[in-house]
Amino acid sequence: MTLLFTDIEGGVRLWEADRDGMAAASARHDRIVREQVEASGGRVFKAVGEAYRASFADPVAALCSAVAIQRAAGAEPWPSGLPIRVCMALHSGACAERDGDYFGPVVNRAARLLDIGHGGQVLATAATYALVADRLPGGIGLADLGEQRLKDLGRAERVFQVTGPGLAAGFGVLRSLDDPALRHNLPSQATAFVGRTAELAELRALTSGGSRLVTIAGPGGIGKSRLALQAAANALDGTGDGVWLAELAPVAEPELVTRAVAAALRVGETPGRPVLDTLIDAVADRDLLLILDNAEHVLGAVAELADAVIRSCPRVCLLVTSREPLGIGGEHVFRVPGLAVPPADLAVPDRLAAFESVQLFAEHAALHRRGFIVDDTSAAAVAAICARLDGIPLALELAAARLGSLSVAEINARLDHRFRLLTTGNRTALPRHQTLRALIDWSYDLLSPPEQVVFERLSVFAGGWTLDAAEAVARGGDVADWQVLDLLAALVAKSLVQAEVLGGSTRYRLLETIRHYAAERLALRAGQDLRDARVAHRDHYVCLVETAAAQSRGPDEHRWFDRIEAEFDNIRAALAFSIADPGGAEPGLRIAAGLRAFVFSHGHSGEVIEALGALLGRPGARPPTRYLALALVTNCKLLTHFNRSPDIPSMAEEAITIARGLADDDLAADALTALNWFSFLQGDLPAALARADEAVALATAAGNPKRLAVALGHRAVFRAETGDLDASLADYQEVLRIARAIGDNSTVVVTLINLGVDQVTAGEFPAALAYLQDAIRLADAHGYRHLSTAAQMNLGFAYLLNSDAASARRLLTGVLDSARAASEVTWVHNTLLGLALAAGLDADPSVAATLHGAADRQFEQAGQAFEARELTMRASGHARLRGALGEAAFDAAYARGRTLSQAEAIALAMSTAAGTVQPDPGQPDPGQPDPGPAPAAGSLSAREREIMALLAGGASNAKIAETLYVTSNTVRTHLDRIRDKTGARNRAELTRYAMQSGIEPVVPSP
Ligand SMILES: Nc1ncnc2c1ncn2[C@@H]1O[C@H](COP(=O)(O)OP(=O)(O)O)[C@@H](O)[C@H]1O
Ligand SMILES: [Mg+2]
Repeated sequence: MTLLFTDIEGGVRLWEADRDGMAAASARHDRIVREQVEASGGRVFKAVGEAYRASFADPVAALCSAVAIQRAAGAEPWPSGLPIRVCMALHSGACAERDGDYFGPVVNRAARLLDIGHGGQVLATAATYALVADRLPGGIGLADLGEQRLKDLGRAERVFQVTGPGLAAGFGVLRSLDDPALRHNLPSQATAFVGRTAELAELRALTSGGSRLVTIAGPGGIGKSRLALQAAANALDGTGDGVWLAELAPVAEPELVTRAVAAALRVGETPGRPVLDTLIDAVADRDLLLILDNAEHVLGAVAELADAVIRSCPRVCLLVTSREPLGIGGEHVFRVPGLAVPPADLAVPDRLAAFESVQLFAEHAALHRRGFIVDDTSAAAVAAICARLDGIPLALELAAARLGSLSVAEINARLDHRFRLLTTGNRTALPRHQTLRALIDWSYDLLSPPEQVVFERLSVFAGGWTLDAAEAVARGGDVADWQVLDLLAALVAKSLVQAEVLGGSTRYRLLETIRHYAAERLALRAGQDLRDARVAHRDHYVCLVETAAAQSRGPDEHRWFDRIEAEFDNIRAALAFSIADPGGAEPGLRIAAGLRAFVFSHGHSGEVIEALGALLGRPGARPPTRYLALALVTNCKLLTHFNRSPDIPSMAEEAITIARGLADDDLAADALTALNWFSFLQGDLPAALARADEAVALATAAGNPKRLAVALGHRAVFRAETGDLDASLADYQEVLRIARAIGDNSTVVVTLINLGVDQVTAGEFPAALAYLQDAIRLADAHGYRHLSTAAQMNLGFAYLLNSDAASARRLLTGVLDSARAASEVTWVHNTLLGLALAAGLDADPSVAATLHGAADRQFEQAGQAFEARELTMRASGHARLRGALGEAAFDAAYARGRTLSQAEAIALAMSTAAGTVQPDPGQPDPGQPDPGPAPAAGSLSAREREIMALLAGGASNAKIAETLYVTSNTVRTHLDRIRDKTGARNRAELTRYAMQSGIEPVVPSP
């Protein structure tokens, strides 16, 4: 059967805009749809509002009907001002029918497909495509739009668009989960989502009714996580800052909860600062939904976090899943029921199919036994099983998985026997958690002994694993590596392990309830099994991290870093085990050291620095090994960049001594470059320069081109700093040659940046611009965000030298944002200075002087020296402001700046960017000149003012689009133009600008 679903795009909004017009349009639309469907031999089986559902026996007839409706709608003279555009979806498959209505997975999919289309578009699934491709009517084609993820989070669907004369074309990206406008990190699910209509509606009502903290509570396996994910997917509509999932199951320690959430929200941490503070700052003004999944084992920490977020972040909503509620104020507890179960003796297949538990069982049954359907022979047993299992989804899945070897009747008989034993023949039902436990016990008992061993050992993984990891961890004893694949496949077939194919490779995981069970079993085994599994797990990730490290500064660097990121839960677990395990110092150091390059490009600096601190700070002798030296160098490099520490030189010296003792030139060169760079940043150029030749010589002797490129690159920077640009250029050219030869793109980018900097110093602005723009292009092309930021910062300074304050500010404010997000503290200070310099060129001189004071203070507090370029620019900036203000006024303003906190300094710098200078925080100063009114809003067009008014009234982009009857794209274009005119960069600044320039906020109608 082929289904045709249709709806009018934006129907609700059209009704609001023009009731009478819409009533007329709706009637005409109704006539068009019904006439065309009937003309093609189909049947409209449901109509709600302007949404129609029709069924066709012949798929080509369905297709023709869709085309005919589009053509008729296109030709219809709709009431003026009512853009009626019909969106359609075609999907084929078997559906269950009851009382003339259809339901089941095929119906659900069709509805989901309709969700992602645009008005005027006709979409079809691969299932329909396969049926009609050979029989397309003349002129009609099907364009392949590729795989799309639908909002049921199920498997991606290959989607086609019907094309032909009279059909519109040129639609934007589909509104699928792959649409970049939908910001989220929701994972795909291997199976279709079943039922839960009422629960989803209730959750939606709760959140839209203002409950900002909803806890989905219930026993394990009842479907909390799945429900939360689905509610989250439904909430994704492209407005606000998206929907983010933080998976807490792998989080072993309560302290790590905040970190896991920060990572999910892509908030970088600032070492030395509580992660919670950084997190709250980062999301304080964001509008997002955060899902904290599987909170039961860290309830206290989650409660604290939730409390802080609810209080400080007014537009963040939390959806928590947990066996127990958090028990804090403002929490709304939603208890998930089981899926609806039929009476145990209902044996009518058609009626059974209406129950959610039966749908889920049948869906899984069909996965394990091809062609399974609930018919007269199976109905009685299915009803009994679903009732017996109380509608617990996980229990139903485990039972259905046995269909590979047993019939439904046999499964039912065995379950009956088990439960009779458990209830000692007493027919009262077991509590839900015992029902599930009984099912898992049953599934476990049916495993062969090697399957049981593998199953248990897999519980040491955190956040999923790959096949090679399973082989490394699960082999041993009676299980050889070559057997692991088969055993794993057997566990997947029994639904004890979940498998998912991502980008061609399979990733496995255990549902949390099941992992917990397996871990319990493993811990119960006598002897060393648990420790052996953990050691094997750790060693596997030591190996992975070191392999990835060896690929850094090479063409495949990013692929490896992505792999490390995907395994970070496991790596974190391996690190934690190393720290806790008496024999774990060396493997722990190897992991931490191996993460060096990864951390610079992907973050997690705080965790790695902390782990290094714990491992290096262990009491007792530390053998002077290569691993220790590498860890010390890593620690130096990370601390130098992220945190600073007075211990850096002594750690570097220790590493150098070890390297010399081992006669390891490469290692010595590595340690020396770390020390030299630190000296350079501390302003000790002579020391850095003095040792730079030695580092180059050692790297040359070691014959490691990567090391040589680093040593030469550093020396070039130092040489340029002394003013010897020719010598610097020679070193850089050699670096470029080496880096290009070995495919080290990141070094090519770094070198282009440095060459750009030298050109700036030489006053060659066009050449500098060329190098730096090249660097940004290449960095973006290879996904080196960190380097792109560095290049942009340097380009910002280049613009400053060229007296182009506006361009400099545009770049520097962006850099400041990225640097804060990634905790590049030194760059935060650099950009503050840059923004002070920009203010000195075109803003109020007193504010500029204040910003200089603030910037200087940040450098001093961090013990960060100004680079030569910064020193010169700063001196001339100060001189110019002294000239403009007079000494006394400059000193007063500058001194005021020195009292500002970093946050205050940033706010002030940003408000110069927004053209809305705020009065200084702190003491009102009689000498302080009036910062003056914000620039008049007169330069904005009437439309732009309208948009600003709505934005100030709290409307999202989508809401603005809806209210003004324009597309979101148009709104975005307007906002870009407004940003250009006002300098405001984000919603907060735009709102502030609107207020200050007298635009009255307009609250959009709901
Ligand atoms: N409504 C549903 N539709 C399809 N599968 C479901 C549904 N609810 C739960 N499941 C499946 O049941 C299993 C257990 O659900 P899960 O959400 O992990 O439970 P919990 O979080 O309560 O422990 C998972 O495999 C999940 O995909
Ligand atoms: Mg869960």
